[in-house]
Amino acid sequence: MTPYELLDKLSETHELSVSEYETLISETDSDLYARAAKKAAAVRRKVYGDGIFIRGLIEFTNYCRNDCLYCGLRKSNRNADRYRLTNKEILACCEEGYGLGFRTFVLQGGEDPYFTDERLVPLVRSIRNTFPDCAITLSLGERSRESYQALYDAGADRYLLRHETADPVHYSMLHPREMSLVHRMRCLTELKEIGFQTGCGFMVGSPFQTPRELARDMAFIQEFQPEMCGIGPFIPHSETPFADMAPGSLDLTLFLLSLLRLMKPDLLLPATTALGTIHPRGREMGIEAGANVVMPNLSPAGVRKKYLLYDNKICTGEESAQCVDCLETRLRSVGCRIETGRGDPKEIPRDLQGTPDFPDGGEPELFRIL
Ligand code: SAM
Ligand code: SF4
Ligand code: FES
Repeated sequence: MTPYELLDKLSETHELSVSEYETLISETDSDLYARAAKKAAAVRRKVYGDGIFIRGLIEFTNYCRNDCLYCGLRKSNRNADRYRLTNKEILACCEEGYGLGFRTFVLQGGEDPYFTDERLVPLVRSIRNTFPDCAITLSLGERSRESYQALYDAGADRYLLRHETADPVHYSMLHPREMSLVHRMRCLTELKEIGFQTGCGFMVGSPFQTPRELARDMAFIQEFQPEMCGIGPFIPHSETPFADMAPGSLDLTLFLLSLLRLMKPDLLLPATTALGTIHPRGREMGIEAGANVVMPNLSPAGVRKKYLLYDNKICTGEESAQCVDCLETRLRSVGCRIETGRGDPKEIPRDLQGTPDFPDGGEPELFRIL
C-alpha cells in the first residue's frame, strides 16, 4: 500500500500493523503530512468541536532519584537548583488556577523520595475536598501498586506516565540499568486496572530512535488504548549525557500527533510545552495537527526556571495569568477557544468508531457486505 492508502486505512479502521506504521513514519513527504493534519483536525472538531482543554501544571518538586539520560532533573545533574513546594504552596497554585478557569490540576514532579504516601495522600485528599468539581492528574513516575491505589482512593483521577519507548533495547539506551521497560509497562497496566484515566507517551527524536521504534510506540498505544497520550520533541539539556544530541523534528512530531488522532479519535492529546519550545508557533501547529489539550504552567513564578527538563523552556518568566491570556490569543489564531470543565474523554461519534479488529489483519468479505 502507498503511504496515502495507509493514511486512509488508519482513518477508516483506526489501526495499522507495526510495518505499516513504519512505512508511514519513514515518509517525509510534506503533502502527506498536510493531508494527515487536515484529516486529524477534522476528526478533532467532530469529537471535541473547537474547544481545547486546559490543564494547570504544578511542578511541585524537581528532586529526582532517577537518572534518565535525557532529563535535566536527573540526580547526576549537580547543577540543578533543587526545590519542593509545600502543601500550602501547592493548594495556593490550585486556588489561583481555579480562579483562572482551570478544572484540572496536574501535579508533576521528579521521583522525589520525600513524597511518601503518608505525605501525598493527605495532599491529594485536601485538593479533592477543596475542589470537588476538578480532576486531579498525577505525574510522579513509577510507584508501587499499593501507592497508586492509595492515591486513587484519595481522589486522584488521572495518571500520566510516558512509556518513553516501546522497544526494550532502546529503553535501555535512554535509562540507567536500574530502570526497565518491563517495570514501566507493569506500572501502566496497574494504573489502568486501578481505574485511573491513564496517559502514556514518548519523545520524538530521542537519541537512537528510528522509524522502527516509533512504529512500535504507535502499535503499543493502539493496543494499550490510553485515555491520554503525551508526545513532544526531545530537546537536549546541557547538563546531561545527551547534551550534544540533535533535537527532535517539529514536522515529524506534528505528523505523529495527526496519526495518533486518527488512530484514537477521542484521545486527550496535548500540544506540549516542548513543541512550543522548538518553534514559536509549535503549540498552535500541534492543535492544527489534531491535538486538543494545552497544559499551561501554574507553578509559582519563582520556581519555574528550576524545573528544566531541557534547555530554553518557554513560559518560565511569566505568571500563570499571563500564560492563560497568551494561550487564549494563540488558540483564537487557529480558530479554537479554551474549553473550561474537567475535560474528560468524549464519546466517539458512530461514524468514527471504525471497523472491528481482526487478528489476522484481513477483513472477511462477509463483514464488508454487512
Ligand atoms: N518524573 C516523572 C516521569 O518521569 O514520569 C514526571 C516528570 S518527567 C520530567 C515528564 C516527562 O518529561 C518525561 O516523561 C519525559 O518524556 C519528558 N522529558 C524529560 N526530559 C526531556 C527532554 N530533554 N526533552 C523533552 N522531554 C523530556
Ligand atoms: Fe526523574 Fe522523570 Fe526526569 Fe526521569 S524523566 S530523571 S524520572 S524527572
Ligand atoms: Fe506562557 Fe505564552 S503560554 S507565555
